[in-house]
Amino acid sequence: MKQSLWINGEFVETTEYSRLLNPYDETLIAEVAIAEREHVIKAIDSASFAGERFRAMSAHERAEILERVVELIKENKEECAQIIAKEAAKPIKAARGEVDRTIMTYKFAAQEARRIYGETIPMDAAPGGEGRIAYTVKEPLGVIAAITPFNFPMNLVAHKVGPAIAAGNTVVLKPATQTPLSAYKIAQFFHEAGLPKGALNVVTGRGGTVGAVLFEDDRVKMVTFTGSPEVGKQIREKAGLKRVTLELGSNSAVIVDKDTELQEIVPRIVAGAFAFQGQVCISVQRIYVHESSFNDFVEQFLQKVKELNVGNPLNERTDISAMISKSERNRVLAWIESAINNGAKLAIGGRNEENGLLQPTVLLDVPPEEKISCEEAFAPVVHINRVASLDEAIRLVNHSKYGLQAGVFTKDVGRAFQAAKELHVGGVMINDFPTFRVDHMPYGGVKLSGMGREGIKYALEEMTELKLISFKL
Ligand code: SIN
Repeated sequence: MKQSLWINGEFVETTEYSRLLNPYDETLIAEVAIAEREHVIKAIDSASFAGERFRAMSAHERAEILERVVELIKENKEECAQIIAKEAAKPIKAARGEVDRTIMTYKFAAQEARRIYGETIPMDAAPGGEGRIAYTVKEPLGVIAAITPFNFPMNLVAHKVGPAIAAGNTVVLKPATQTPLSAYKIAQFFHEAGLPKGALNVVTGRGGTVGAVLFEDDRVKMVTFTGSPEVGKQIREKAGLKRVTLELGSNSAVIVDKDTELQEIVPRIVAGAFAFQGQVCISVQRIYVHESSFNDFVEQFLQKVKELNVGNPLNERTDISAMISKSERNRVLAWIESAINNGAKLAIGGRNEENGLLQPTVLLDVPPEEKISCEEAFAPVVHINRVASLDEAIRLVNHSKYGLQAGVFTKDVGRAFQAAKELHVGGVMINDFPTFRVDHMPYGGVKLSGMGREGIKYALEEMTELKLISFKL
């Protein structure tokens, strides 16, 4: 299969194509177009031209396009899940879950498209404001550059394209190099749903080439990016006066307070640590357990980890498959080795076994300065450390350059409120893991985890411009 660029409502061939391999078995999935500068400029030209007409489209027409996209994804659910499973090596059960979430995300976008409104301003609250009626409206920004990661190749595209289209913006989308096919599929659905040509363009290729054009072109009014803090910082530096939303990484933690019932929470935390091989920004990476239940927790946790099935993402029973690339797997293996050499205990996994997959790995008593604790692992690796009190656990969770979400299991409502107040993160999940997300809630982080919020209503705030209109009577 040959996958060309999608610009101005048609496929555009390029001179260079790259081979897209399945990360699990390295079979060829597609040959994917590599854009050159001129293609990216053409995509911005198209988005800019389409924007003039698209912003005049009524809210109900934009909502209806999004509703038709919802229907098209529903009709093609299994095909969408297979695309994700093959290009990302996401276990098929999880890939189907992602497609369901994508449907929800576009549903929310369709709903929000109908309720973008401003407010009336009491101008006479200030001397000199008398005799005026004033109100605000929210207008589209114009062309938005969306740069999306490999780990949720449909739903994180939806979190950018959905609100952008709902608000009347046009988009140039650069999906992750390893997962372009999900994005191209979605572009086809938008086309079939009646989105004007040029309103959504997809360009694949080298991040440096595509990014450089997107950041330097003044017609691009916003960059919305999900990925690593390193790239996020570069985008901030290069974006000039463009609006920027950054969803970056984390080394998310969960606290298990004293007297917590373990039986129910252990399977939940195992799922939060190992879903999609831990390649989720809010994956459980650090677990801080009160010393009174540490040994029981570890025993039950390891028992559940042993039940996980590792293998082919297309197998219905698979829970964990290949990491996105061998170099990523080797990076994390080196981090595991370093932690062990510096005093951590390997409780399970950590070996690169015969099928080349990193086995689900649990480390105990990891020193906080080890990379496997203080950097984002983005891998099927978790560590469990004992703590003497909730205060100590909160201090350790906050002792991080990241701050996306944190989870706290406790029976004590006072301690729950204390944790909610003191944890320095974008979202606190009381009696749940940090990996919890539904698609309409505000989602984003503090510190190196990023800036701005997603979750359709909140993304719409970032993707619209507030205009004031004042009538002097
Ligand atoms: C992410 O990895 O940032 C997204 C997590 C999610 O949507 O569940």
